Amino acid sequence: MSDIRDDVVAGFEETFGRSSEGVWSAPGRVNLIGEHTDYNLGFVLPFAINRRTIVALGLRDDGVLRVASEFADEVAEIAIADLAPERLHGWSAYPLGVAWALGQFGADLAGVPGADLYIASTVPVGAGLSSSAAIESAVAVALNDVWQLGFDRQTLAKVGQLAENKAVGAPTGIMDQSASLLGREDHAVFLDCRSLDSSLVPLGFAEAGLELLIIDTGVSHSHATGGYAARRASCEEGARILEVDSLRDLTVDDLPRARNLLDDETFRRVRHVVTENQRVLDTVIALRESGPLAIGELLDASHISMRDDFEISVPELDLAVETAQANGAIGARMTGGGFGGAAIALVPSAGISRIQVAVDGAFAEHGFGQPTMFTVTAAGGAARD
Ligand code: GLA
Repeated sequence: MSDIRDDVVAGFEETFGRSSEGVWSAPGRVNLIGEHTDYNLGFVLPFAINRRTIVALGLRDDGVLRVASEFADEVAEIAIADLAPERLHGWSAYPLGVAWALGQFGADLAGVPGADLYIASTVPVGAGLSSSAAIESAVAVALNDVWQLGFDRQTLAKVGQLAENKAVGAPTGIMDQSASLLGREDHAVFLDCRSLDSSLVPLGFAEAGLELLIIDTGVSHSHATGGYAARRASCEEGARILEVDSLRDLTVDDLPRARNLLDDETFRRVRHVVTENQRVLDTVIALRESGPLAIGELLDASHISMRDDFEISVPELDLAVETAQANGAIGARMTGGGFGGAAIALVPSAGISRIQVAVDGAFAEHGFGQPTMFTVTAAGGAARD
């Protein structure tokens, strides 16, 4: 990590010809359980991971924002007064969208100085580990500090989500930014997406001899298009027909009534959300009372629900999950928005290489591209470094 921090400071100096004033960073996240429940105002249990996006920042005296990064050739530039979602394009819509969104939450953008930002990241893109929320959260804490806005973390999470929804154009929920801003080492963030109340839940993986393995299928997913928005629309339709504000208001006892009133597909979408909310609550209890060895079945059940009811898995994810389960994982599931990206497997440390070899072999046998596998640990949230 210190290497990339040095790179960011050097990148800033090279790009802008002066020294930066400070460095901020924010982590990606992995979702342990609670998928597609956030925009249904239910429960999620993600954790911040030990892969981060780093931002070096220097103030300017002319009301202009410039953003550069290791992953773009061009420096994007805009006057703060001109910030508007329709004027932001490409990757710079993430950081500049955050600046715009801060104004939407009440920051006086007419009164703040400009800034140069240089951004780099160790969060893999497209793996479902929220590289986008890591950028948004890092920029949000940086601008919140230097512009002395005093927003709390919940508000900064909403700022990042608004940037993602309006400037980037992906209709995502509040989970990713919350995890990136609220994470703590060795803990998951248990978030009620309606009240935004959160609490930290000890994971205890290391004490139990476990590690969390990411199996990135390499199948790319895009939340701005297609499936994600369609699932969200189905959930809203289900809530409308069942006359509740959100699917959060339903429990498993409501499912027989839902089956009578909804078409089969909408019913299965609703059943996923309702049962997934319950699985999050059960996972929190299991972690607190019995530790991580007790959560495997809940992870497995979550995957089946996403595969069969919510229909957001793909053959590569199913194969990763099944192979991990058959080779000693405590539990496994796809994670994130779906339609590609990564699976997670909770694995005894001593058995990791066996699972990696088995997954590699299974992918080769099926003619799938080689997956990327690595372990992650639960890390602290966004901060000034
Ligand atoms: C993506 C979104 C989140 C959430 C998950 C699915 O990661 O950004 O808001 O909806 O998908 O759980």
